[in-house]
Amino acid sequence: MKKLGVAVIGTGFWGRNHARVFKELPETELLAICDINAERARTVANQFGVKPYTNTGSMLKNKDIEAVSICTWSTSLAEEALKALKAGKNVLVEKPMAANAKQAKQLLSTADREGLHLTVGFLMRFIPGLQRIRKEVEAKTLGEPVCATAKRVSQWPERIGDVGVVKDTAIHDLDVMRYVFNEDPIAVYAKTGSMRHGKFEDYAQIMLTFKGGQSAFIESNWLTPYKTRILTVTGSEAIMKLDYITQELTIENAKETLQPRYTLQEPLKLELQHFAKCIAGKEKPIITGMDGLKALHIAEAALKSSATGKAVKLE
Ligand SMILES: NC(=O)c1ccc[n+]([C@@H]2O[C@H](COP(=O)([O-])OP(=O)(O)OC[C@H]3O[C@@H](n4cnc5c(N)ncnc54)[C@H](O)[C@@H]3O)[C@@H](O)[C@H]2O)c1
Repeated sequence: MKKLGVAVIGTGFWGRNHARVFKELPETELLAICDINAERARTVANQFGVKPYTNTGSMLKNKDIEAVSICTWSTSLAEEALKALKAGKNVLVEKPMAANAKQAKQLLSTADREGLHLTVGFLMRFIPGLQRIRKEVEAKTLGEPVCATAKRVSQWPERIGDVGVVKDTAIHDLDVMRYVFNEDPIAVYAKTGSMRHGKFEDYAQIMLTFKGGQSAFIESNWLTPYKTRILTVTGSEAIMKLDYITQELTIENAKETLQPRYTLQEPLKLELQHFAKCIAGKEKPIITGMDGLKALHIAEAALKSSATGKAVKLE
């Protein structure tokens, strides 16, 4: 089987993991990496035995590179993704996909025009427990869906300096809520603020409402001294709780408590394998560019709601 030629753009904390996984997967061949920090580019390229680049211009001319992961700072993701799409590469762009929805739209139209695959790094969707929750909600084994609450709190990762906690962190849960209820929210109300971060919001409480009557509540911050990542989905007959860190899932109804076990798998591995299989036409995309755009749109509406003190309707 021919391997998919891939490259990673931005090899800091997260991009380095993309490079490692691409190296490990049987479906992909890591051909190059690029980082504007020359020393980092050299170190990471040496680690994986590939060619380092400090700008994408010449790297993207390599025809053997068919797909790229974009893992640069959040505010430069869209610019790099656009260059890659224009060079004919399939793209996995990390969340939040772009600095704003306008840039994200440009990525969608470019991918569409060029006939390329565009996806966004919403890693949570590859956790088996979350996929199970979605199935149970769909099958109504929880009864009627009532609400979902997500808590994603920890201390500020200081390397994140160009967006706030809404676009960096809560965006995962904005996507998760759309995924779990298989529906777009119709309104958002949020309260955000900054306690320690000089430039951006470092805490956010976001409430979403859905047409079917369900609601979602998201608590995100960079203040809590320990890391918690939990999702609870309440239905009229049962409750499901997922701990993203341990990947433990609990299902409770009036009669019993179940703890289905899944083999612990690295979600990034599942995500990048799926990306390669989609490009090969073997799987249908779980996450599209449109999912990225929609989450970013809700994130912007949440920030607007907080600034105005009013709920914002979403089209
Ligand atoms: N999906 C997830 O769960 C997840 C987890 C962590 C980070 N991320 C995302 O990954 C991205 C990177 O985060 P990080 O924590 O690795 O940040 P980081 O600061 O550790 O790394 C970013 C790297 O990109 C490089 N860079 C910046 N602009 C560049 C450009 N134009 N071309 C090439 N290299 C460039 C920087 O030199 C740096 O090495 C962010 O968008 C973040 O939101 C996603």
